Amino acid sequence: MKTKSKKIMIRRVTQEELNYNKIVLIVDSFANMNNMSKNDFLKKIFIGAFKLIPEAEKGSFYELAGDEYVPIFSNGYNIDTLKKLSFKREEAFNDFHCSDLAKIDAHEIYIEKRDEGMYTKETIDIFKELGTYSNFTTLYAPIQVEGINVGIICVECFNKTCYSKTSKIILKFYAQIISNFYSQKVLQEKETKMYHDTVTALVSAIEVMDKYTEGHAQRVRNYSCAIAEKLQLTRQQVSDIGTAALLHDIGKIGIPTEILNKPGKLTDEEYAIIKLHPVHTKTILEKISGFSTISNFAYGHHENYDGSGYPQGLKGDQIPLESQIIQVADAYDAMTSKRAYRSALSVKISLEIIKEEMGKQFNPEISKIAIELFSKD
Ligand SMILES: [Fe+2]
Ligand SMILES: [Fe+2]
Repeated sequence: MKTKSKKIMIRRVTQEELNYNKIVLIVDSFANMNNMSKNDFLKKIFIGAFKLIPEAEKGSFYELAGDEYVPIFSNGYNIDTLKKLSFKREEAFNDFHCSDLAKIDAHEIYIEKRDEGMYTKETIDIFKELGTYSNFTTLYAPIQVEGINVGIICVECFNKTCYSKTSKIILKFYAQIISNFYSQKVLQEKETKMYHDTVTALVSAIEVMDKYTEGHAQRVRNYSCAIAEKLQLTRQQVSDIGTAALLHDIGKIGIPTEILNKPGKLTDEEYAIIKLHPVHTKTILEKISGFSTISNFAYGHHENYDGSGYPQGLKGDQIPLESQIIQVADAYDAMTSKRAYRSALSVKISLEIIKEEMGKQFNPEISKIAIELFSKD
């Protein structure tokens, strides 16, 4: 009696451990999902799937690219051979049943022999080369974004084995995880596009108002990013500097056009109005969600290193480094461009002015980099 209960206990612990390991593997597939490249993510998924679906010997992942499904990942197949395959969206997986209307689920099919009437001779030859011409069982599941198929995951075994109920559930789980991953990516792409569209619309708004600044925002962005990269700032910093540089003068929308485009010298009163544009820039940008850091960088683009700038009269390190970079880039472009009240200065003279103003108007380190970069142009 004692021996019997001991045996039962050993079996229970083993099963629990097994289940625990399966859960860990599945949960692990979700970890850091958003920060992973597509290939790393799929690799992780396949490693998990092959450990948890014992019948699986080889597998592949197809993605819908335009109007065709193309293989982008394989486990066990020669990827170069596999990549010779592609299927028209409407003809994809002729042997499979996987319409857009089907919900995410795992389906099993045994292929005794491919129907040669359905495929070209080239495709049949590739199937033969891959070993997927006859006598294999595939377990597959669609990947969907908003109910539409965008991919398919399949695992194969090369005989007539039936996949267990657990294996089918596991592949369904993985198909759902991959579908979530793809949905996240689509959402991120939509957000990025919206972000860029907002920035482009705002930049066009300044250019409509101020005819002398056409291309100014884009050039200041390019100069600022070049300086930031030379300073070895992070990718995020370079990106934020780029956006702030594009939008640094957006506040000019709040300045009357007759002052902005005045060909002659400005009166003190008019100059005081112009000097308000960084304040307007901040007011406009901080209203856009996610732009608070960027609005601050743009706000500081007329602060001078020695404290003689505006609107706050900040000095040295009190000015964000990002603003100091944009300030030098902005001044350089303003000098080398034609303005309402003067013609463009040469690169040589503009760089001499930057050199003269090192430690006064401009941060010395940034000036040195700017001179080095722009004297190559
Ligand atoms: Fe400005
Ligand atoms: Fe500017």
